[in-house]
Parts: sequence; C-alpha cells; structure tokens
Amino acid sequence: MPFTLPKDWPARALTQLRAKLLDWFDANKRDLPWRATTDGKRDPYLVWVSEIMLQQTTVAAVVPKFNAFVARFPTLAALASATEQDVLKLWEGLGYYRRARHLHAAAIELMRTHGGTLPDDADVWESLPGVGRYVLGAVLSQAFDRQMPIVEANSLRVLSRLFGYRNDPRTGEGKAWVWQAAEAVLPAKRCGDFNQALMELGALVCAPTNPDCAKCPLANRCEAKRLNLQGEIPPKAARPEITNVREVGVVVRDGDRVLVCQRPATANRWQNMWEVPHAALAEGEDASAGAARVVKELTGFDAEPGAELLTIRHGVTRYAITLVCFEAELRGGTFAPGAYAAARWVRTSALAEFPTSSPQRKLMSALATPRQKRLF
Ligand code: ADE
Repeated sequence: MPFTLPKDWPARALTQLRAKLLDWFDANKRDLPWRATTDGKRDPYLVWVSEIMLQQTTVAAVVPKFNAFVARFPTLAALASATEQDVLKLWEGLGYYRRARHLHAAAIELMRTHGGTLPDDADVWESLPGVGRYVLGAVLSQAFDRQMPIVEANSLRVLSRLFGYRNDPRTGEGKAWVWQAAEAVLPAKRCGDFNQALMELGALVCAPTNPDCAKCPLANRCEAKRLNLQGEIPPKAARPEITNVREVGVVVRDGDRVLVCQRPATANRWQNMWEVPHAALAEGEDASAGAARVVKELTGFDAEPGAELLTIRHGVTRYAITLVCFEAELRGGTFAPGAYAAARWVRTSALAEFPTSSPQRKLMSALATPRQKRLF
C-alpha cells in the first residue's frame, strides 16, 4: 500500500507536526561535532564524512573517530591526497572498512572532476562510490537544504509508529512505504534539520523499547501510542542465526621482530589491512597444531608454536569468533604470496602504525605492552 496521510488529520496537522519537531530539535539536539556551523552554514565535506561514519555505527562510537579523522584530513583535498593506508588507519575501530575506501575513492573523483568542491548536484553525488539513497538525502538536505528524504533505523521507527504502519518497513513494500512517508512529511525549508530531527527523536525519545512518549512532541498524533502498540511497531528485525567459529592467530617471532601480513584486495573483509596470520581451526583440531599449519599454509614460513598468549572473543556479522592466540618461533621457509599480498618483519612497537581489524588491534596492543606489565 502506498503512503497516504491519515484521513482524519486536519489540513494544518502536517504544518504543525513539522513546526513541533523542529522546535523540539532546536531545544533538545545533541551538540555533535559535525553539527558545527560557520555563518549559519555547514561544511558539506564534514556532513559527508559524518554521514558515512554514522551509517553503520553509533553516535557515541563515531564522535572521537570523526574528530580524529577531520583533524587529520580537514578538507576534501587533504583526504584525496592521503594514501588508502592512512585513511584505513584513521578508520580503525569503526568497522565496515569498505566505507572508508569508497569515501577516499570518491574524494579523489571529486578532486578530478570538480576541482575539489562538493557540488549541490544530486547527479554527481549519485555517481560516487558509497553513495546510496540514504547518503544522498542526508548530505544534500543537510549541506544544501535540498528537499530530499532520508530513512535509517531511527527515522524508520518514528515514521512507522507515527502513522501506525504494521508491516515490516525494512523490506519490499514496507520499504517503499517508509520512503514515501519520509518524503511526504518533509518541509520545504530546513530539510536537513528536519531529517536530523527525525533521527534524533528516534535516538533520544522514540527508543526501540520503552519509548518516552511523555517527552515526544508528536505524541498527540502518534497512532502507535493511541493503540498502545509501541512494542509491536515496527516489528522486530529478524536476527540472523549466530555461528560459532574457533580461530587461531599466530605471532611468529624472528628475534625481536614479529611477522605481519597484508590481506589482499580480494579478501572477503579487511581488504588491504594488516594482521598476524590467522584462520579457522578445523573441527576438533588442536589449537597449537593448528597454529603451525595456519602459518605454513598462509605464509610459507615454518614456525614452532610456543606459549598460548590470550584468547579474544569478537563478533563479525553473524559469526561469534573465539580467536586463540599463540606465539611461535620462525624455523625457516620463505614468504609465499597468495593468501596474503605482502609480509613484513617489524618490532612490536611499530605495530601501532598498521591499519588492522579490532580483534587484531587487541592482540597487537597486548604484544606492544612490556612483558612484565602484561596480564597474560
Ligand atoms: N545518524 C545518522 N545521521 C545522523 C546525524 N546527522 N545526527 C545524529 N544521528 C545520525
């Protein structure tokens, strides 16, 4: 069913709703670094960086990363002239690293085609890597006050509850419905603030569980509240089944250096990032024996496993991974590229320079801690 405004809404209802939501936003919005303005205007570059970071990551996790990123790359030109390794390093910990690669590639493209400006032109933005409908609407509405809608997890919840939409707004018809709703409620001016207000309301008031309806500026028109169906609308997203995986990671030592390897551009995740060799253990495989096998298979080096260092538990998409980490001594062999694109022998103090995944960063940080201060 396509979206239509409720029949019992008086003509002025939508105007009132927009005004109320914007007033609420002005009074309650969080002071977030990407919301800073100069002469009342926001910097399109900062808006863009923030929206890419916020796509799959919470505000709390984004704030410090955003600040560090824009301190290092304050302009589009600075980002475009950085290496991909530098960009990945600054993205470390945020996950979904494809976003960083796309952001970097898009910056290079804008330097080449638009002289380093971020244009007020939807066609240009749509052609950039990493820019889908959400980013397009978020950037153009906030940076240029374009009347373009956005839908993300928070606004999806607010709109579904407000209009009492019972189906799943994340897929198929429901997805089309919620985008139409987001478009229909948009004012002609302050579109960027309005879009942010919808997200902010979802984040601060219209929470997934126990929404604080007493504080909601839209409560008097909210269909879910009227029917007391806040708990059912929107229906809970189906949780993917979690698969447990046992992995081994191996810190191969040659004197005072350890082996780090670069994942290939074709890897399933963490492309071009660095790590100590790691792979899944076979069913029932002894972790120490697995450590020697993994080093040989992935790198070509022979290594003799020694002490178990620590165990790291982490989640990636639908996998719950237990990574058992060993130390091992280099015994011979030469690097055979394939599973990895490159290998380096480095002092543990240099490990901080390499862009790596969060679980590997935990391991590397532990290694860089002097032995007597280690907790393992
Ligand atoms: N989530 C996505 N974009 C956001 C923004 N601009 N402010 C707060 N939360 C957000």
